[in-house]
Parts: sequence; structure tokens; C-alpha cells
Amino acid sequence: MRIGVFCSGGDAPGMNACTRAIVRSALSKGHEVVGIYRGYQGLLEEDFFQEADETPLMRLRSVSNIIKMGGTILGTSRSPEFQTEAGLKKASGILKKHRIDALVPIGGDGTFHGAVALAQHWDGQIVGCPGTIDNDLLGTDYTIGFATAVHTAVEALDKLRDTAESHSRMFLVEVMGRHSGYIALYTALAGGAEAVAIPETPTRIPEIIETLKTLKARGKHSIMLVVAEGDESGGAQKLDALLKSAGCPFDTRVLMLGHLQRGGSPTPEDRILATRLGNFAVESMLQGANGVMAGEIRGELALTPFLDTYVQHKAVPENLLKVLQTMAS
Ligand code: F6P
Repeated sequence: MRIGVFCSGGDAPGMNACTRAIVRSALSKGHEVVGIYRGYQGLLEEDFFQEADETPLMRLRSVSNIIKMGGTILGTSRSPEFQTEAGLKKASGILKKHRIDALVPIGGDGTFHGAVALAQHWDGQIVGCPGTIDNDLLGTDYTIGFATAVHTAVEALDKLRDTAESHSRMFLVEVMGRHSGYIALYTALAGGAEAVAIPETPTRIPEIIETLKTLKARGKHSIMLVVAEGDESGGAQKLDALLKSAGCPFDTRVLMLGHLQRGGSPTPEDRILATRLGNFAVESMLQGANGVMAGEIRGELALTPFLDTYVQHKAVPENLLKVLQTMAS
């Protein structure tokens, strides 16, 4: 088989570890791997991986030492052209022209939407790997990159706590997660934050003010409020303004972590998850799997149809929200 591998959508730490696992799993079984640069857009432009000696196929050494690297050596993109009928037909033609039998995309919900659409125009196999810091895909407990993003955000929170404590201040820290509170909730728990604002729960200004007053009366000097970018308040800047005008009892500062969370060397958890899922994706494909994402649910490897990974919202664990409230007392 000739298998195409690419990364698509927002990059996530561990995409390289996953690419390495896909390449080595396929080569070890005697198959060929074509690396596609810049996701669906690169496919449309026939922008394929080439070694320095212009060899088009990936080799064992093509992925040497990338397990520890952030970003993606294949590059990534979001492609509006691919989302059109003409783009999908063109992509199908290019895959046939290069005799590619199967694809392993690494990405998030947008990537899998693309895979579902492509399957209407192309009859090759597609088995995906979940690569996104958001952890918003069903069919896997954790996505590749989530653990590293949380690690980065917690490091930031720890540092902010030092200065917040010195100045008796409150920090509103905005983390990523367009539609999901996962990064915010895990960052808040691990960083010992007093509160979290996420899209899954209503953000009520009077309640937050009451909590802040209570915490101040109990002798709290500093407050960390972690805000998901997708929170209905509109993010940390807007929430800060709302809290100030409602009589926030702390002097506040705002920090948006932004794309910082997408970079850096993947944690061991992400490297292991990426390696397991990349290997599982290839092995499943060789056994005939198609139109599915490789994931890990309660420690067990699992395949889930693409549609089922994104059609419903992945709820954040409610019990963790309660634990956070108890800890913030
Ligand atoms: O989906 C991953 C993600 O990092 C989201 O958390 C964030 O909202 C978005 O990508 C940012 O996208 P871009 O890199 O295009 O600004």
C-alpha cells in the first residue's frame, strides 16, 4: 500500500511523534509512505515531502529524533479551497495520480469533516489520529497535544501566582479551546485556581463577585480565574470589564496565553499517546478499517467513525468542576 500522512488544522505538540509512529509502523510492514506538506492545502498543491536527495517516499530516517519536537515537520494549514466541491474533486484526482491508496490525517474536527467530505469523492481508506490541544473530540479520552498545552498553561499559572500573591492581585488567564472548557478546567485544577469560566457552564457575574468577596474575607491574597476563550462572557478581557463594573474586590490583571499553548516539546503522555495511536491507526488500516479515528478510551484502543467524533459536544467531567469549587475554599 502507499499511505499518505499529513497534519491539518491547528498544530498540536505530539503531531511529530504521531507522524513518526505512522511512518515507522507502515514501513515495518513493507508499505510506502508519502508525506504531504501543509494538510489539505498541500495536497491540492501536490506539495509532497522530499528528502534532500529528492527521494519522494519517507524513510525510517526521515522521522529520526522528531518524537521530542513541537510543531509539525510536515506543516499544517486550514484550507478553504478543499471545502469546495471543486477542491474535493481535485484532491481525489491528485491522490489517484500519485497512486495513494490510503490516508492518515492527524488533526481535529475540521480535519475529520474534511475526511468525511473527501470520502464522497475518493474510494481510498482513511484512518485518522486526534491531534488538537482542545481535547474536544469524542472517541478518545484525550487528544494528542492536550496534556502539553495544559502543562504549558499550568507553568504560566504558577508564575503568575507568585506575582499575584506579592501584589494581592487577581489574574484572569485566558486559555485556548474555541468551544471547549477542557484546557481551562484541567489548567485550573492543576494550577490551584480559585475559579474557572467555561462555555459548558453559565458564567454569572454576581455569583463570581460573591465568591471573590467570601474568599477575600477568608484571607485570600491572590486569585487565579482561568477563562476559556470560548466562554460566553467573550473571553478574559470582557469578563474582566464585567467584573470590574460589578465591584470586583481585587485589583485585576489579564493575561491571554494564546498560541504559546500550542508550542513546545510534547510531554511524555503526549508522546506515548501519539505513538500508540499512530501505530494503531496503521495496523487498523491494514486490517481494513476505513472512515474512523484511532483513539484511547479508558486505556483501551478504540476506533470511532469520524462523524461520531465531532457531531456531539464532548462534555467536561462535572465532578471535576465540583472538586475545583471545594479546593478553592
Ligand atoms: O483548535 C485548536 C486551536 O488552538 C483552538 O484552541 C483555537 O481557538 C484555534 O485553534 C486558533 O486557531 P488559529 O491558529 O487559526 O488562530
